[in-house]
Amino acid sequence: MICLGVEGTAHTLSIGIVDQDCKVLANTGKMIDGSKGGIHPREAANHHAENMVPLMHDAVSKAGVSYKDIGLVAFSQGPGLGPCLRTAATGARALALTLGVDLIGVNHCVAHLEIGRKVTGCGDPTLLYASGGNTQVIAYSGGRYRVFGETLDVGIGNMIDKFGRSMGLPFPSGPHLERLAREGSELVDLPYSVKGMDVAFSGILTAAIQLHKSGKRLEDVCYSIQETCFAMLVEVTERAMAHVEKDEVLLGGGVVQNKRLQGMVRTMAEERGARMFVPPGSLCVDNGAMIAWTGLVMHNAGVRTRLEDSAVRQRYRTDEVDLPWML
Ligand code: ATP
Ligand code: FE2
Repeated sequence: MICLGVEGTAHTLSIGIVDQDCKVLANTGKMIDGSKGGIHPREAANHHAENMVPLMHDAVSKAGVSYKDIGLVAFSQGPGLGPCLRTAATGARALALTLGVDLIGVNHCVAHLEIGRKVTGCGDPTLLYASGGNTQVIAYSGGRYRVFGETLDVGIGNMIDKFGRSMGLPFPSGPHLERLAREGSELVDLPYSVKGMDVAFSGILTAAIQLHKSGKRLEDVCYSIQETCFAMLVEVTERAMAHVEKDEVLLGGGVVQNKRLQGMVRTMAEERGARMFVPPGSLCVDNGAMIAWTGLVMHNAGVRTRLEDSAVRQRYRTDEVDLPWML
Protein backbone atom coordinates (compact mmCIF):
# COMPACT_ATOMS: atom_id res chain seq x y z
CA MET A 1 0.00 0.00 0.00
CA ILE A 2 1.06 3.57 -0.67
CA CYS A 3 0.54 6.25 1.97
CA LEU A 4 0.46 10.02 1.52
CA GLY A 5 1.50 11.97 4.62
CA VAL A 6 0.80 15.62 5.40
CA GLU A 7 3.18 17.35 7.83
CA GLY A 8 2.12 20.77 9.07
CA THR A 9 2.92 21.23 12.74
CA ALA A 10 4.77 24.53 12.40
CA HIS A 11 6.35 26.62 9.64
CA THR A 12 6.84 23.78 7.14
CA LEU A 13 4.12 22.19 5.04
CA SER A 14 5.37 18.95 3.52
CA ILE A 15 3.74 16.14 1.58
CA GLY A 16 5.44 12.76 1.48
CA ILE A 17 4.51 9.56 -0.30
CA VAL A 18 6.02 6.23 0.77
CA ASP A 19 5.38 2.57 0.07
CA GLN A 20 5.28 -0.47 2.37
CA ASP A 21 9.06 -0.85 2.20
CA CYS A 22 9.57 2.79 3.22
CA LYS A 23 10.72 3.68 -0.25
CA VAL A 24 10.29 7.47 -0.33
CA LEU A 25 8.51 8.15 -3.63
CA ALA A 26 8.13 11.88 -2.94
CA ASN A 27 8.91 14.26 -0.10
CA THR A 28 8.13 17.84 -1.07
CA GLY A 29 7.99 20.78 1.28
CA LYS A 30 7.61 24.50 1.62
CA MET A 31 8.56 26.63 4.58
CA ILE A 32 7.12 30.04 5.44
CA ASP A 33 9.76 32.75 5.60
CA GLY A 34 10.67 33.24 9.26
CA SER A 35 13.38 35.83 8.74
CA LYS A 36 11.21 38.80 9.73
CA GLY A 37 10.86 37.65 13.32
CA GLY A 38 9.20 34.44 14.48
CA ILE A 39 6.22 32.82 12.83
CA HIS A 40 2.69 33.97 13.37
CA PRO A 41 0.62 30.75 13.60
CA ARG A 42 -2.21 32.23 11.55
CA GLU A 43 0.12 33.37 8.77
CA ALA A 44 1.78 29.97 8.69
CA ALA A 45 -1.66 28.34 8.47
CA ASN A 46 -2.57 30.59 5.52
CA HIS A 47 0.71 29.60 3.89
CA HIS A 48 -0.18 25.92 4.38
CA ALA A 49 -3.70 26.44 3.00
CA GLU A 50 -2.36 28.14 -0.13
CA ASN A 51 0.23 25.47 -0.76
CA MET A 52 -1.75 22.36 0.18
CA VAL A 53 -3.25 21.48 -3.19
CA PRO A 54 -0.23 22.44 -5.36
CA LEU A 55 2.11 20.49 -3.05
CA MET A 56 -0.15 17.42 -3.11
CA HIS A 57 -0.28 17.50 -6.93
CA ASP A 58 3.47 18.00 -7.03
CA ALA A 59 4.13 15.06 -4.69
CA VAL A 60 1.80 12.73 -6.60
CA SER A 61 3.44 13.69 -9.87
CA LYS A 62 7.00 13.36 -8.49
CA ALA A 63 6.11 9.95 -7.07
CA GLY A 64 4.98 8.83 -10.52
CA VAL A 65 1.68 7.57 -9.12
CA SER A 66 -1.91 8.70 -9.47
CA TYR A 67 -4.32 9.59 -6.68
CA LYS A 68 -6.13 6.29 -7.03
CA ASP A 69 -2.92 4.45 -6.04
CA ILE A 70 -2.99 6.07 -2.59
CA GLY A 71 -4.41 3.66 -0.04
CA LEU A 72 -3.98 5.68 3.14
CA VAL A 73 -3.71 9.34 4.16
CA ALA A 74 -1.72 10.25 7.29
CA PHE A 75 -1.36 13.65 8.92
CA SER A 76 0.54 15.25 11.80
CA GLN A 77 -2.11 15.39 14.53
CA GLY A 78 0.18 17.12 17.06
CA PRO A 79 2.00 18.53 18.91
CA GLY A 80 2.26 21.89 17.20
CA LEU A 81 0.65 25.23 16.48
CA GLY A 82 -3.16 25.01 16.44
CA PRO A 83 -3.92 26.86 13.18
CA CYS A 84 -1.14 25.02 11.30
CA LEU A 85 -2.24 21.62 12.60
CA ARG A 86 -5.88 22.31 11.72
CA THR A 87 -4.99 23.31 8.18
CA ALA A 88 -2.88 20.19 7.63
CA ALA A 89 -5.62 18.00 9.13
CA THR A 90 -8.29 19.62 6.93
CA GLY A 91 -6.27 18.90 3.81
CA ALA A 92 -5.72 15.29 4.88
CA ARG A 93 -9.37 14.72 5.79
CA ALA A 94 -10.56 16.16 2.49
CA LEU A 95 -8.19 13.93 0.53
CA ALA A 96 -9.06 10.76 2.49
CA LEU A 97 -12.79 11.39 2.09
CA THR A 98 -12.45 12.13 -1.61
CA LEU A 99 -10.41 8.99 -2.24
CA GLY A 100 -12.52 6.87 0.13
CA VAL A 101 -9.45 5.62 2.04
CA ASP A 102 -8.52 5.46 5.74
CA LEU A 103 -7.21 8.52 7.54
CA ILE A 104 -4.63 8.23 10.29
CA GLY A 105 -3.43 10.81 12.83
CA VAL A 106 0.28 10.64 13.67
CA ASN A 107 2.24 12.03 16.61
CA HIS A 108 4.97 14.23 15.11
CA CYS A 109 7.69 13.26 17.63
CA VAL A 110 6.98 9.55 17.24
CA ALA A 111 7.26 10.04 13.47
CA HIS A 112 10.81 11.41 13.83
CA LEU A 113 11.66 8.26 15.76
CA GLU A 114 9.95 5.76 13.46
CA ILE A 115 11.43 7.09 10.21
CA GLY A 116 14.86 7.19 11.85
CA ARG A 117 14.57 3.61 13.07
CA LYS A 118 13.51 2.41 9.65
CA VAL A 119 16.04 4.21 7.45
CA THR A 120 19.08 3.77 9.70
CA GLY A 121 18.27 0.20 10.70
CA CYS A 122 18.70 0.79 14.43
CA GLY A 123 16.42 -1.25 16.66
CA ASP A 124 15.71 0.25 20.05
CA PRO A 125 17.45 3.62 20.22
CA THR A 126 17.45 6.62 22.49
CA LEU A 127 16.38 9.52 20.26
CA LEU A 128 17.91 12.96 20.61
CA TYR A 129 15.32 15.11 18.86
CA ALA A 130 16.60 18.65 18.44
CA SER A 131 14.65 20.93 16.12
CA GLY A 132 13.29 24.46 15.97
CA GLY A 133 10.39 24.03 18.35
CA ASN A 134 11.31 20.79 20.09
CA THR A 135 14.20 19.48 22.14
CA GLN A 136 13.56 16.08 23.69
CA VAL A 137 15.33 12.87 24.61
CA ILE A 138 12.98 9.95 23.97
CA ALA A 139 13.32 6.20 24.48
CA TYR A 140 11.07 3.14 24.47
CA SER A 141 10.40 1.97 27.99
CA GLY A 142 7.54 0.11 29.61
CA GLY A 143 5.48 -0.10 26.41
CA ARG A 144 5.64 3.60 25.52
CA TYR A 145 8.01 6.09 23.99
CA ARG A 146 8.86 8.17 27.03
CA VAL A 147 10.39 11.60 27.26
CA PHE A 148 13.40 11.40 29.55
CA GLY A 149 14.44 15.01 29.23
CA GLU A 150 13.32 18.10 27.37
CA THR A 151 13.67 21.84 27.12
CA LEU A 152 12.05 23.86 29.86
CA ASP A 153 11.75 26.93 27.66
CA VAL A 154 12.47 27.23 23.91
CA GLY A 155 13.60 24.60 21.43
CA ILE A 156 17.32 24.79 20.67
CA GLY A 157 16.71 25.66 17.00
CA ASN A 158 14.43 28.56 17.91
CA MET A 159 17.12 29.87 20.24
CA ILE A 160 19.71 29.65 17.46
CA ASP A 161 17.35 31.36 15.00
CA LYS A 162 16.58 34.15 17.49
CA PHE A 163 20.27 34.70 18.09
CA GLY A 164 20.90 34.70 14.35
CA ARG A 165 18.12 37.20 13.74
CA SER A 166 19.55 39.63 16.29
CA MET A 167 22.98 39.25 14.63
CA GLY A 168 21.53 39.85 11.15
CA LEU A 169 22.21 36.30 9.94
CA PRO A 170 19.92 34.76 7.30
CA PHE A 171 17.07 32.47 8.34
CA PRO A 172 17.25 29.67 9.34
CA SER A 173 20.45 30.55 11.16
CA GLY A 174 21.65 27.08 12.16
CA PRO A 175 23.93 26.47 9.15
CA HIS A 176 25.37 30.02 9.45
CA LEU A 177 26.04 29.56 13.15
CA GLU A 178 27.83 26.30 12.34
CA ARG A 179 29.96 27.98 9.66
CA LEU A 180 30.91 30.90 11.95
CA ALA A 181 31.60 28.57 14.87
CA ARG A 182 34.31 26.84 12.79
CA GLU A 183 36.22 30.15 12.83
CA GLY A 184 35.84 30.56 16.60
CA SER A 185 38.33 29.44 19.23
CA GLU A 186 37.73 31.29 22.49
CA LEU A 187 35.18 29.64 24.77
CA VAL A 188 33.20 32.44 26.38
CA ASP A 189 31.18 31.74 29.50
CA LEU A 190 27.49 31.00 28.84
CA PRO A 191 25.04 29.69 31.46
CA TYR A 192 25.20 25.89 31.14
CA SER A 193 21.74 24.90 32.30
CA VAL A 194 20.87 21.29 32.87
CA LYS A 195 18.24 20.86 35.56
CA GLY A 196 17.81 17.21 36.40
CA MET A 197 17.17 15.69 32.98
CA ASP A 198 15.91 18.93 31.44
CA VAL A 199 17.67 21.76 29.64
CA ALA A 200 17.02 25.48 29.21
CA PHE A 201 18.29 27.82 26.51
CA SER A 202 16.81 31.28 27.02
CA GLY A 203 19.54 32.34 29.49
CA ILE A 204 22.16 31.40 26.92
CA LEU A 205 20.42 33.51 24.28
CA THR A 206 20.40 36.61 26.49
CA ALA A 207 24.01 36.09 27.59
CA ALA A 208 25.24 35.46 24.03
CA ILE A 209 23.66 38.66 22.69
CA GLN A 210 25.11 40.58 25.63
CA LEU A 211 28.61 39.16 25.14
CA HIS A 212 28.60 40.10 21.48
CA LYS A 213 27.46 43.64 22.37
CA SER A 214 30.30 43.91 24.84
CA GLY A 215 32.79 43.16 22.08
CA LYS A 216 33.24 39.38 21.86
CA ARG A 217 33.80 38.18 18.28
CA LEU A 218 30.70 36.71 16.64
CA GLU A 219 32.72 33.61 15.66
CA ASP A 220 33.68 33.01 19.30
CA VAL A 221 30.12 33.52 20.51
CA CYS A 222 28.80 31.06 17.89
CA TYR A 223 31.49 28.56 18.84
CA SER A 224 30.60 28.92 22.52
CA ILE A 225 26.86 28.56 21.87
CA GLN A 226 27.54 25.27 20.08
CA GLU A 227 29.96 23.93 22.68
CA THR A 228 27.71 24.83 25.60
CA CYS A 229 24.32 23.83 24.20
CA PHE A 230 25.53 20.62 22.59
CA ALA A 231 27.35 19.56 25.77
CA MET A 232 24.04 19.99 27.60
CA LEU A 233 22.24 17.82 25.04
CA VAL A 234 24.95 15.16 25.14
CA GLU A 235 24.89 15.06 28.96
CA VAL A 236 21.15 14.47 29.10
CA THR A 237 21.19 11.97 26.22
CA GLU A 238 23.97 9.98 27.86
CA ARG A 239 22.17 9.89 31.18
CA ALA A 240 18.98 8.65 29.49
CA MET A 241 20.95 5.94 27.65
CA ALA A 242 22.52 4.78 30.91
CA HIS A 243 19.16 4.78 32.66
CA VAL A 244 17.35 2.69 30.04
CA GLU A 245 20.49 0.65 29.27
CA LYS A 246 20.37 1.21 25.51
CA ASP A 247 23.37 1.10 23.24
CA GLU A 248 21.98 2.97 20.24
CA VAL A 249 21.50 6.70 19.89
CA LEU A 250 19.42 8.07 17.03
CA LEU A 251 19.41 11.71 15.94
CA GLY A 252 16.38 13.59 14.62
CA GLY A 253 15.25 17.19 14.00
CA GLY A 254 16.86 19.93 11.90
CA VAL A 255 19.57 20.85 14.42
CA VAL A 256 21.16 17.39 14.28
CA GLN A 257 22.44 18.19 10.81
CA ASN A 258 25.13 20.14 12.67
CA LYS A 259 28.42 18.27 12.27
CA ARG A 260 29.81 19.42 15.60
CA LEU A 261 26.73 18.06 17.39
CA GLN A 262 27.06 14.78 15.48
CA GLY A 263 30.74 14.61 16.44
CA MET A 264 30.05 15.17 20.13
CA VAL A 265 27.27 12.57 20.22
CA ARG A 266 29.47 10.09 18.31
CA THR A 267 32.30 10.51 20.82
CA MET A 268 29.93 10.00 23.75
CA ALA A 269 28.44 6.91 22.09
CA GLU A 270 31.82 5.37 21.30
CA GLU A 271 33.04 5.93 24.84
CA ARG A 272 30.04 3.95 26.10
CA GLY A 273 30.40 1.20 23.50
CA ALA A 274 27.23 2.46 21.81
CA ARG A 275 26.47 3.41 18.20
CA MET A 276 25.09 6.62 16.68
CA PHE A 277 22.60 6.68 13.79
CA VAL A 278 21.79 9.74 11.67
CA PRO A 279 19.04 9.70 9.00
CA PRO A 280 19.61 11.70 5.79
CA GLY A 281 18.96 15.44 6.29
CA SER A 282 15.70 15.46 4.32
CA LEU A 283 14.27 12.94 6.80
CA CYS A 284 15.69 14.72 9.89
CA VAL A 285 13.82 17.97 9.31
CA ASP A 286 10.03 18.15 9.42
CA ASN A 287 8.83 16.15 6.43
CA GLY A 288 5.75 14.42 5.09
CA ALA A 289 7.54 11.12 4.42
CA MET A 290 8.02 10.47 8.13
CA ILE A 291 4.31 11.06 8.71
CA ALA A 292 3.39 8.78 5.80
CA TRP A 293 5.72 6.02 7.00
CA THR A 294 4.50 6.18 10.61
CA GLY A 295 0.92 6.16 9.31
CA LEU A 296 1.67 2.92 7.47
CA VAL A 297 3.33 1.35 10.52
CA MET A 298 0.31 2.26 12.64
CA HIS A 299 -2.19 1.09 10.05
CA ASN A 300 -0.40 -2.25 9.60
CA ALA A 301 -0.64 -2.71 13.38
CA GLY A 302 -4.40 -2.16 13.25
CA VAL A 303 -4.54 1.45 14.42
CA ARG A 304 -7.36 3.50 12.86
CA THR A 305 -8.36 7.16 13.31
CA ARG A 306 -12.09 7.69 12.95
CA LEU A 307 -13.10 11.02 11.48
CA GLU A 308 -14.64 12.07 14.79
CA ASP A 309 -11.33 11.35 16.55
CA SER A 310 -9.23 13.27 14.05
CA ALA A 311 -9.26 16.61 15.87
CA VAL A 312 -5.76 18.03 16.25
CA ARG A 313 -3.91 17.87 19.57
CA GLN A 314 -1.65 20.86 20.16
CA ARG A 315 -0.11 19.29 23.26
CA TYR A 316 -0.08 15.69 22.04
CA ARG A 317 2.56 14.05 24.21
CA THR A 318 4.93 11.40 22.98
CA ASP A 319 4.06 9.07 25.87
CA GLU A 320 0.32 9.18 25.10
CA VAL A 321 0.78 7.14 21.94
CA ASP A 322 -0.12 3.42 22.00
CA LEU A 323 2.53 1.40 20.16
CA PRO A 324 0.97 -1.90 19.12
CA TRP A 325 3.69 -2.37 16.48
CA MET A 326 6.34 -2.55 19.20
CA LEU A 327 4.73 -5.54 20.99
P1 ATP B 1 9.65 21.19 14.88
O1 ATP B 1 8.26 21.58 14.47
O2 ATP B 1 9.88 19.72 14.87
O3 ATP B 1 10.15 21.82 16.11
P2 ATP B 1 11.03 22.89 12.96
O4 ATP B 1 10.19 23.05 11.73
O5 ATP B 1 11.17 24.07 13.82
O6 ATP B 1 10.58 21.63 13.72
P3 ATP B 1 13.24 21.45 11.73
O7 ATP B 1 12.84 21.55 10.29
O8 ATP B 1 13.34 20.09 12.32
O9 ATP B 1 12.46 22.41 12.67
O10 ATP B 1 14.64 22.18 11.93
C1 ATP B 1 14.82 23.55 11.72
C2 ATP B 1 15.82 24.09 12.73
O11 ATP B 1 17.09 23.45 12.56
C3 ATP B 1 16.05 25.58 12.58
O12 ATP B 1 15.93 26.18 13.85
C4 ATP B 1 17.48 25.66 12.05
O13 ATP B 1 18.18 26.83 12.44
C5 ATP B 1 18.11 24.41 12.66
N1 ATP B 1 19.29 23.96 11.91
C6 ATP B 1 19.36 23.58 10.62
N2 ATP B 1 20.64 23.28 10.28
C7 ATP B 1 21.40 23.47 11.40
C8 ATP B 1 22.78 23.35 11.71
N3 ATP B 1 23.67 22.98 10.78
N4 ATP B 1 23.19 23.64 12.97
C9 ATP B 1 22.30 24.02 13.91
N5 ATP B 1 20.98 24.15 13.69
C10 ATP B 1 20.53 23.88 12.46
FE1 FE2 C 1 9.92 18.08 14.02
